[in-house]
Amino acid sequence: MTEAIAVHNEEVIVRVEDLCYEVGGSAILTGISFEVYTGEVFGVMGMSGSGKSTLLRCLMGLVQATSGIIEIDGENMAGKTEDELNSVRAKMGMCFQQAALFDSMTVAENIGFGLKRRTKLTRQEIATRVDEHLEIVGLSGFGHYMPSALSGGMRKRVGVARALIMQPKIILYDEPTSGLDPIIAGQINGLILHLRDQFEATSLVVTHEVDRLFAIADRVLMLDARTVAACDTPENLLRSDNAKVRQFIAGDMEGPMDTGLLTPETTATE
Ligand SMILES: Nc1ncnc2c1ncn2[C@@H]1O[C@H](COP(=O)(O)OP(=O)(O)O)[C@@H](O)[C@H]1O
Ligand SMILES: [Mg+2]
Repeated sequence: MTEAIAVHNEEVIVRVEDLCYEVGGSAILTGISFEVYTGEVFGVMGMSGSGKSTLLRCLMGLVQATSGIIEIDGENMAGKTEDELNSVRAKMGMCFQQAALFDSMTVAENIGFGLKRRTKLTRQEIATRVDEHLEIVGLSGFGHYMPSALSGGMRKRVGVARALIMQPKIILYDEPTSGLDPIIAGQINGLILHLRDQFEATSLVVTHEVDRLFAIADRVLMLDARTVAACDTPENLLRSDNAKVRQFIAGDMEGPMDTGLLTPETTATE
């Protein structure tokens, strides 16, 4: 797990400094700073409601940070026009938690959608690339299926193929394995590592699933109480003295973590 850090020379591809994001006067993220290195699998963990998805939305420029700096591949996300933002966004591929596929399109149409809209490739060229990407995610032959006919794990893999086909430098995964059985979750984890090794894609993996994240991440940032509680390799986090880190890894209800969001009402509906 630590070897990958040595090979990518610690070239920074994502830099976040003192990021704050507020909605309606209440802070959701405050004072967030971290760097992601080219080619690493960087994890973000934290409880449900700790702001993980919001952080990804800030990185993608889908919502604007209230203050702080976000640099993607050397480009500052602040003060950009929509066109400029789109060219930075093109460096990132987002795999949404619910896969977010178009239900009225086939799997192949879903995967080829971005190429059709944003490139001048011919129908045949797109079809060839779609087939290549179906193969990469282990779904050869499923191009003509409708998303509703696929399992949750297959839909997630279609979501990965759809992001990957645009050849992003950075792939953002929001809860890539949650709700999947252990075998399928293992396959998704294997796919994330394969994409890093074959395409040197930098991966940001956001999840509340500690064990699955630690199995693939080079480094992990832990969010708690709207800010960074820790950021280190899984090995170091596992032997950390930080009481919040220990509580989260152990899954204890009692401890210093901000579990204020977990009221009987919220847990009942989740
Ligand atoms: N646009 C918004 N308006 C109000 N509250 C929001 C908005 N976006 C996120 N939140 C709140 O911010 C917190 C973090 O949400 P989220 O980023 O989805 O957490 P996670 O992905 O870690 O579960 C939650 O309490 C959520 O209700
Ligand atoms: Mg989320």
